[in-house]
Amino acid sequence: MTTPLRLGIAGLGTVGTGVVRIVQRHGDLLAARTGRPVEIAAVSARDRTKDRGVRLTSYGWEDDPVALARRDDVDVFVELMGGSDGPAKAATEAALAAGKDVVTANKALLALHGQALAEAAEAAGAAIRFEAAVAGGIPVVKALTEALAGNEITRVMGVMNGTCNYILTRMESAGLTYDAAFAEADGLGYLEADPELDVGGIDAAHKLSLLAAIAYGTRVAFDAVEREGIGAVTIEDIRAAADMGFRIKLLGVAQLTGRGLEQRMSPCLVPAASPLGQLEGGTNMVVLEGDAAGQIVLRGAGAGEGPTASAVMGDVADLARGVRVSTFGQPAATLTAPQPALSTTPAPFYLRMRLQDKPGALAKIATALGEAGISIDRMRQYGHTEPEAPVLIVTHKTTRSDLEAALTSMADTRVLVGPPVALRIEDV
Ligand SMILES: NC(=O)c1ccc[n+]([C@@H]2O[C@H](COP(=O)([O-])OP(=O)(O)OC[C@H]3O[C@@H](n4cnc5c(N)ncnc54)[C@H](OP(=O)(O)O)[C@@H]3O)[C@@H](O)[C@H]2O)c1
Repeated sequence: MTTPLRLGIAGLGTVGTGVVRIVQRHGDLLAARTGRPVEIAAVSARDRTKDRGVRLTSYGWEDDPVALARRDDVDVFVELMGGSDGPAKAATEAALAAGKDVVTANKALLALHGQALAEAAEAAGAAIRFEAAVAGGIPVVKALTEALAGNEITRVMGVMNGTCNYILTRMESAGLTYDAAFAEADGLGYLEADPELDVGGIDAAHKLSLLAAIAYGTRVAFDAVEREGIGAVTIEDIRAAADMGFRIKLLGVAQLTGRGLEQRMSPCLVPAASPLGQLEGGTNMVVLEGDAAGQIVLRGAGAGEGPTASAVMGDVADLARGVRVSTFGQPAATLTAPQPALSTTPAPFYLRMRLQDKPGALAKIATALGEAGISIDRMRQYGHTEPEAPVLIVTHKTTRSDLEAALTSMADTRVLVGPPVALRIEDV
């Protein structure tokens, strides 16, 4: 008789109860596919009395997740509490120290402590798997770590925060202001307890830093992600971008250039007809580019009970089958410290500005761009009644530093009304 794989699940919220449901509903499927039964030995949460809508009576209970991690009848510790420190970190460390494998959905924990945890896992002969931590139900960690192992990865891109994508698409489809779309997302329960994690791009930057570590064999460098949230995106920019054939997305990009590792998470324009441009609502998309495989586009639910629990169970099934992969795709000791580079890769930029409506104003702007070596690809001036003229410019490819120089000399011309909006146009 094959020995069962026994899980200890810490956290019985959205994801944890989803995992319990899959184990209960698909026990036969999992046993058939992995060759051994997958069972829940014990669980932990803060409130033992809470009705969670799932049967828990046949499992052991621990108030303390560290005690759960150390139980003799637990083979795999499944961490679904969340938080970069506190009980999630303590219990994960305890599980690894006891030589137990860990499956987690916790991107914050790994983005901040991934290297130390990967080293601890290897020292103990244990594994850490975290498919659910990046883009929910999309199997992107597996694709990058395993399926694309024979590729040099040239670029990783993604829309990896469904809440931000929901807000941006609602602004466009319903003509809502940012504040109105934010309030709607909040009413639907889409926002984290600290909304800045979502709209400030922090959650998405956690995920990007994990993918970059796998793609480039570097230590996780979350602090080096250039990050800008969506709070400054206006309905005017959404409309103007649409008018020029673009949509605005909170896009993460990681690429290794001659200068080092560029990681950025910021609102960008992407062509409306591209797969990223067509992404609606809370859906996520990750684009992986390899020198042999070319471009691979993965799209799916980035959050929610079913998709996230599905990703957790994919990792559990791997462990049940005996598939063991280094945390970030190669031994932790071989991950190099990345040389963080600010984005220097040239790109076209979208500029929206208001000019004083007087002769020669536009010429001054064109001169400021020209003197910084930036040429104009397209320009649009809209009819207006107020004494300020709205102008849109799409530049040819330029660097952020040349653009900054042009923006400084534009300010000196004194024809601008307020600072211009400048957004990168990503070639996707
Ligand atoms: N929700 C998603 O769609 C999603 C998607 C991808 C990744 N994730 C990640 O998955 C993890 C869990 O998210 P979630 O949405 O399921 O969170 P959640 O609904 O807030 O559930 C958290 C669970 O952890 C338990 N918990 C918190 N502190 C604890 C402690 N000190 N000891 C024992 N249990 C404790 C809570 O217990 P009580 O219920 O008793 O309060 C609760 O059951 C997070 O890392 C999150 O980032 C979530």
